[in-house]
Amino acid sequence: MRAVILISGRGSNMEALLRAGLPVDFAAVISNRPDAGGLTIARDLGVDTAVVDHTRHTDRTAFDAALAEQIDRHGADLVCLAGFMRVLTDDFVQRYQGRMLNIHPALLPAFPGLNTHTRALAAGVKLHGCTVHFVTPEVDAGPIVVQAAVPVFDDDTPERLAARVLAQEHRIYPLAVRWFAEGRLRWTADDRIGLDAATHPDTALISPMG
Ligand code: GRF
Repeated sequence: MRAVILISGRGSNMEALLRAGLPVDFAAVISNRPDAGGLTIARDLGVDTAVVDHTRHTDRTAFDAALAEQIDRHGADLVCLAGFMRVLTDDFVQRYQGRMLNIHPALLPAFPGLNTHTRALAAGVKLHGCTVHFVTPEVDAGPIVVQAAVPVFDDDTPERLAARVLAQEHRIYPLAVRWFAEGRLRWTADDRIGLDAATHPDTALISPMG
């Protein structure tokens, strides 16, 4: 299976995917920013890189067309968005429907969009986390594949909470891609995702512990 990873910045989720020993040929890392730190990491790991600079395209449609050309040139079966900070056109999303994943730093459907950690602290939630989901035209609303939850502490700052969540992002994104590559993800009729041969430990995560 061939995959490409789309990034905009530092690329720590990209790096987690590249280093996870997955049964996947990562054909390229593509960034919309020429200065994305993740590009250097990818090159150091021997992965091809490409830049499709959004500032050099007149509108979203032109940018997305250039991006699709790059993706298809690499024969990608799977597209992984990993900190890719561009809203995509419906046409683009539909082209990769069912084979494009995203990692979001919140327990969707809570806190879609930006600044999730600040908003989680402001809301006073006791559990926060991250989600891998399939991408659909509505932003951060596609079928959920896997989530991880972390406790929120009274003295948390957005930075500390972000770091706690990020460590879990680096665990669940490789898991989701492995399951996709192994053909274990199943779409149900009501557009949910089932995992074949999943285990279900009968435990609960409670925060705070009294
Ligand atoms: C991650 O928190 C990801 O969930 C969000 O943007 C951040 C990207 O970080 N979409 P990195 O570039 O993977 O380090």
